[in-house]
Amino acid sequence: MKLTKNFLYIAYFLIPSFLSDLTVTGQSFTLPVIMQKTSLVLQVENNKDVHIIYFGEKLKDTAEYKNAPGGYRQTEDYTDLLSSPYMPSGSRNLFEPAISVKHADGNQSLDLRYVSHAVKKIDENVSLLSVLMKDPVYPFQVTLYYKSFYKEDIIEQWSTIVHQEKGKVQLQKYASANLYFKARQYYLRQYHGDWAREMQPEEARLTHGIKTLDTKLGTRANLFQPSMFMVSMDTPATEDEGTVMLGAMEYSGNFRIDLELDNQDNLRVIAGINNYASEYSLATNEEFTTPPFLFTLSTSGKGTASRNMQQWARNYKLLDGKGNRLTLLNNWEATFFDFNESKLAGLLKDTKKLGVDLFLLDDGWFANKYPRNNDRAGLGDWQENKAKLPNGIASLVKEASANDVKFGIWLEPEMVNPKSELYEKHPDWVIKQPQRDEHYFRNQLVLDLTNPQVQDFVFGVVDNLFTKNPGVAFIKWDCNAVIFNAYSSYLQNQSHFYIEYMRGLYNILKRVRTKYPTVPMMLCSGGGGRVDYAALQYFTEFWPSDNTDPLERIFIQWEYSYFYPALSSANHVTDWGKQPIKFRTDVAMMGKLGFDIVVSQLNEKDLAFCQQAVATFNSIKPIIWQGEQYRLQDPTSNSVAAVMYVNEAKSNGIIFNYMVNNRYGEGSKLPIKLKGLNADKKYTIKEINLYPGTKSAIDSSKTYSGDYLMKMGFNPRVSAYRASVVLQITEGG
Ligand code: DGJ
Repeated sequence: MKLTKNFLYIAYFLIPSFLSDLTVTGQSFTLPVIMQKTSLVLQVENNKDVHIIYFGEKLKDTAEYKNAPGGYRQTEDYTDLLSSPYMPSGSRNLFEPAISVKHADGNQSLDLRYVSHAVKKIDENVSLLSVLMKDPVYPFQVTLYYKSFYKEDIIEQWSTIVHQEKGKVQLQKYASANLYFKARQYYLRQYHGDWAREMQPEEARLTHGIKTLDTKLGTRANLFQPSMFMVSMDTPATEDEGTVMLGAMEYSGNFRIDLELDNQDNLRVIAGINNYASEYSLATNEEFTTPPFLFTLSTSGKGTASRNMQQWARNYKLLDGKGNRLTLLNNWEATFFDFNESKLAGLLKDTKKLGVDLFLLDDGWFANKYPRNNDRAGLGDWQENKAKLPNGIASLVKEASANDVKFGIWLEPEMVNPKSELYEKHPDWVIKQPQRDEHYFRNQLVLDLTNPQVQDFVFGVVDNLFTKNPGVAFIKWDCNAVIFNAYSSYLQNQSHFYIEYMRGLYNILKRVRTKYPTVPMMLCSGGGGRVDYAALQYFTEFWPSDNTDPLERIFIQWEYSYFYPALSSANHVTDWGKQPIKFRTDVAMMGKLGFDIVVSQLNEKDLAFCQQAVATFNSIKPIIWQGEQYRLQDPTSNSVAAVMYVNEAKSNGIIFNYMVNNRYGEGSKLPIKLKGLNADKKYTIKEINLYPGTKSAIDSSKTYSGDYLMKMGFNPRVSAYRASVVLQITEGG
């Protein structure tokens, strides 16, 4: 299609000036995605090639973006494609593609040229740029979508792929997004992990060639590597300085992110579903939509970028991002599988005694032929175990209500133990290779969610629970196994397996949310094996890790917090770690507070402290959940780690300070500079959440200006004797 003057006029007219502007020079023109502080700018060339020409701090004059390419004198681009926003393969390209296809006639080349674009203003803050690109030779087209959130400086990017060829086209690679950066050097901060070791960071300079972050686990996909990452330009960004992009896939299955440093020393970032074992046969006129890649760019360090992410999540993605969360007592570590009705009755009383909102019954309450008394049997048989719960869940819900607390329950509906009635009845519902030995992860297998009958079953597990027990107020949705021996006896085309599995899972979650839109649900996966925003649109919170050692949690929660707001992080006080209960509780307060301890075994003072802590938490949680988070001192390079939350009005804040290095004489030797305050306001600082009988070392009668506290700082007096200090800062005085 030719770009007519008329078309240009219409397009220009449709674009709200503050969101996007169209600058025409000859026939080439720019397509800027403009946000509050940054902008991403595409340029359509005379020959209809599209290039990314700018991604950085917003310019005052939109008309000047077109000059950006002229500023570079790098080596030659032999392909004219290096800065493509969606690199095709098999034609001019010499680098890692975003898309790779085999056409119906077997030809493997693709070129994508601009056809048209549109900007839809969704509301005052959100707009959607779509760019339609077509192959000049084949009836094959891709539309790139850039959904931008002005105030949050966030973009979600995805693509749709469709063709009108006579026969199926094989999609060999089908990324969601393709970004391009120009800087002197690039530093990648990535994460790795395993059970109880989530979010372990590594940071290194990227060298030429390709660095790939990916997972092939199918479910519990983040076990070894999540899709969250950061790229700093020129030098590693600090909390408050440097240009840095934070990115993550909104996808719970196999992902792949390629970071390629090319011959011009520029960085290509290609993110999407992992194409591993997943060639997709696309039928004529079938539309393939990729999941969004989420990213934000900050030119003032990682702190700003993380606040962008947190704000966006609360405003747009996380289920009930502005709502309340329930504090709770969980019985997993208190009882494991060993409980019965009378023990639970005691725990319900303890829930009330502690002052939390809800009792959460964990694993072990179900299955009769093969009772769930350990993790080797019963998974899949979702009937109350008659020996443990002769009066069923209904009586527990009733008992909870008699104690004036709510009742929640654990499920792991996607999985099955081979030792279960479900497996005996439906061996074909299980993912396994027909001719190979089964291989187990935590003695279990994954159900085949590509099969609609299995989807009905899984939805039915949740639906039956709520139908029979409308009083159930919370669900912890677990997912412990990865996929071995990927094979579905239902699917015709096995290379669609990983994609169809995720489609099946999202179908179920959508159905659950259509019928039960508000019930809070915790996203758990043997710890933090599935934490992503595709899932979190159905969940109110996630379980970051089974590792609840508070010292470890300071580090784990620190890293998660770059991408997820405190409101979504379920943190429980348990018996892990050597720290006293105050330290453990303070760490758990930096999120959604819960307990998983034997309350009846607490001594008098510990119990009094916990009760008081729950009350304190209830009074400060709006600041922690909805405030802005500032990381003051990181736990890796300081003996004292400090994190601060400040409300929007900058009138109230909470500062958590922890001793993370117990060597002789360590402590807060220097004042810690506060952030996010109003320099002109006066504040007082008081220590809160004190252990009974202790006196604070902080003089709460003094008044300081925000200016002083941000330039000079404040000493929380952390030492081996005061290893955890929570401060409340309040305007006034
Ligand atoms: C793994 C979870 O992470 C734990 O919190 C607990 O729910 C167990 N599963 C139960 O099997």
